[in-house]
Amino acid sequence: MHTRNLLAAAIAVTALSMSGAVAQTVKVGIINTYSGPFAEPGELMDRGITLYMKQHEKDLPPGVKIELIKRDDTGPQPDVAKRLAQELITRDHVQLLAGIVYTPNAMAVAPMLTEAKVPLIVMNASTPAITMKSPYVARVSFTLWHSSYRLGQWAAKHDTKTAYTAVSDYAPGADAEQAFNKGFTESGGQILGSVKMPLQNPDFAPFMQKAKDAKPAAVFVFVPAGTQAIAVMKAFGDVGAKQAGIKLIGPGDITTDEGLDAMGDVALDVITMLHYSAVGKAPGNAAFVKAYQDEFGKDQVPAFEVVQGYDGMAAIFDVIKAQNGKIDPDKTMEILKGWKYESARGPIMIDPETRDIVQNEYLRKVERVNGHLSNVEFETIPMVKDPWKALNKQ
Ligand code: PHB
Repeated sequence: MHTRNLLAAAIAVTALSMSGAVAQTVKVGIINTYSGPFAEPGELMDRGITLYMKQHEKDLPPGVKIELIKRDDTGPQPDVAKRLAQELITRDHVQLLAGIVYTPNAMAVAPMLTEAKVPLIVMNASTPAITMKSPYVARVSFTLWHSSYRLGQWAAKHDTKTAYTAVSDYAPGADAEQAFNKGFTESGGQILGSVKMPLQNPDFAPFMQKAKDAKPAAVFVFVPAGTQAIAVMKAFGDVGAKQAGIKLIGPGDITTDEGLDAMGDVALDVITMLHYSAVGKAPGNAAFVKAYQDEFGKDQVPAFEVVQGYDGMAAIFDVIKAQNGKIDPDKTMEILKGWKYESARGPIMIDPETRDIVQNEYLRKVERVNGHLSNVEFETIPMVKDPWKALNKQ
């Protein structure tokens, strides 16, 4: 270090000790997808993290700082995610981990946390079992059961007697299929067929053709949000399924707010269930959307991954503030259990028993609002706990 820098550092330390505060830097490792064809949800999540930091860094206790150490897992790559987590824990000595878009990555990282005693705040990855892999996991995102189970119940009760399911061939796809299937059939619906679509490099047209040929009232689709959601919507239109009078329904991952205008008119009238819409009516949402557009551009709309990154940082800030920057892993988990927050998506809570999110689920229909396709909410199911855990009593 240059002598002048050394001097500046010495003065800073003296100033801090004179003010009675102790310099404390909390290292937070962010494992996220920043490159490759699966990066879009990761980039959105990163925007949420950035926005929260920018707005709230000044609220940290005197002397307390956060250092974010960001790493790119490059997509659903469990081996990469595991190596990154190992490095962050053993080499960078992070006190907290956060992020993770893809379920396989979270499943690979979670078992490592217990021995290392490093809490992980999951900001997207969704399979129900992730929170059960270690007592040091808390989730601020969702499970596919949150959205798809209730959607199945609702669809069967609203003029949809038959359905065909088409989901990505990995854990969240299986979750979505099982959740929808259960909700739909127990409410009187009939499943005419199902198909699993490849996660890597999928060509959706043959699958949408198969779905159309089964002549269901609705096709239920789950693919990861981002470029795949735009492609599957296009394929649904290209095979003429919409013209044939077949409805498209699914979790809100298939009509993400940032992708709707790129999907075009085929997305109109698609009904989905999710915990956030950019045109949602929760009290904090208007200010959130404005802050997002001030930061990232007037033509940008926040999507659910942005809110999850933002809310995850709110949880991290609360944990750091409550401990004045000295992170104890067990105390951190105690603070996270029952943690409550007024989010842009509405009120949220971390269930103290399961460490999973409790949140409103909204039924939404794609409509044109002020010239832009939007997920317009028309019904709210308040404070839903992960139904998979409730049904399996875990
Ligand atoms: C997941 O891998 O858990 C995942 C990724 C993207 C989504 C939903 C779930 O849109």
